Amino acid sequence: MNVDIGNALASVASPGVSRASLERLDEQVADAHERIEAGMANAEHGYEALNVPDRTDPDEIRAAVEPVADADALITVGIGGSSLGAATITNALDSDTETVFLDNVDPEWVSRHLERLPLADTAINVVSRSGTTAETLANFLVVREAVESAGVDWTERTIVTTGEAGPLRDLANRHDLPSLPVPDGVPGRFSALSAVGLVAAAVCGHDLEALLEGAAAEAETLSGSLFDCPAYAYGATSYALDQRGAGVNAMMPYAESLETAAEWFAQLWAESLGKDDLGQTPVRALGVTDQHSQLQLYRAGPRDKLVTFVTAREGEDRPIPGTDVDDLAYLGDATLGDLLEAEFEATEASLAAAGRPNVRVELERVDEYELGGLLYGMEAACVLAGELYGVNTFEQPAVEWAKKATRGLLGGGEFEEAAAVAEKTELR
Ligand code: PA5
Repeated sequence: MNVDIGNALASVASPGVSRASLERLDEQVADAHERIEAGMANAEHGYEALNVPDRTDPDEIRAAVEPVADADALITVGIGGSSLGAATITNALDSDTETVFLDNVDPEWVSRHLERLPLADTAINVVSRSGTTAETLANFLVVREAVESAGVDWTERTIVTTGEAGPLRDLANRHDLPSLPVPDGVPGRFSALSAVGLVAAAVCGHDLEALLEGAAAEAETLSGSLFDCPAYAYGATSYALDQRGAGVNAMMPYAESLETAAEWFAQLWAESLGKDDLGQTPVRALGVTDQHSQLQLYRAGPRDKLVTFVTAREGEDRPIPGTDVDDLAYLGDATLGDLLEAEFEATEASLAAAGRPNVRVELERVDEYELGGLLYGMEAACVLAGELYGVNTFEQPAVEWAKKATRGLLGGGEFEEAAAVAEKTELR
């Protein structure tokens, strides 16, 4: 990926960051890079995430999905980091396999999917690092029952990706299900390029090697200066802008296929950096759709935002048919791709003209290689930003608290958190 921070500089934007202060920040980037490199070399918890492209074995993943490779549809049951990486990849790329991601436990929505899908020809991909997440386990039990009711042996259609121990691992062992491990030391939201994200990609027939090669190429660019490394340029600039008041980071891809990437990014940024009263609030937007809604706020609302554009240089195009209406003649000479590009350029320029900081993250095209680079690059940007903020990027105590309280309220143990929730509920 390429990162252009020109419109985030103080000469263009307010709040913007001056070249001189970025040069000063670069000394901290160099120190942070040393810590990151050491963490990677020692396979320390969290830093190990940046070794994932080297550690993932595509053959092992393909072998595990082989029994369901002919599926017409794929249900991935998982949530947060156990869902969004896979969804980012499969929603971005074309496949004959329909993909459904059951993360929410809204009963009406879950039932609607199960009633609609061809369950006899559907593969089930269950993913949970801990193997204890209530939403994932509950949805899996519901899916399993629906598949059984359709007269299908669910054990022949299910692949499990989970940690070494826990209820989901027990279930996989008990039913002798094909299963893959979650790599040690890799928090959920950093695991897209492991089996956690790649099982779904493999069932959909995507090129796993290209995903990993794109990520590995991005890994090669990690260096001790934000001026030489696109991922660090992004992480450092976002951090510097936040320090100057841009507490909101709106990611706005100009490609429908990358809409889920903004959702994945929002989790990565929020769950990793939102600690100790610090962190930018990520917002999901989509070009051109949100030019007709959120853009008004981005250009003229509070000066508290960074807008991150993600663009793809090349892609499929489609001509706009001509008409004999004079006022529409300008469209007849163009393609939808021309229009999309013009909309993006106009939006980027309009934000710059209004002094609103924005950064452009450019991909060559939306394919496996470029997606691998984007996922890895944003993970590295996030790890660097975490170092600069001085937070523990790789823990998520607030998320864990709510998980335990939920289980506790249903009688599943860990009563300390559940009692606090019950007390609050009584107060209302
Ligand atoms: O990034 C994280 O740690 C979380 O978002 C988890 O991925 C999410 O809570 C799901 O956890 P698990 O994979 O244990 O089911």
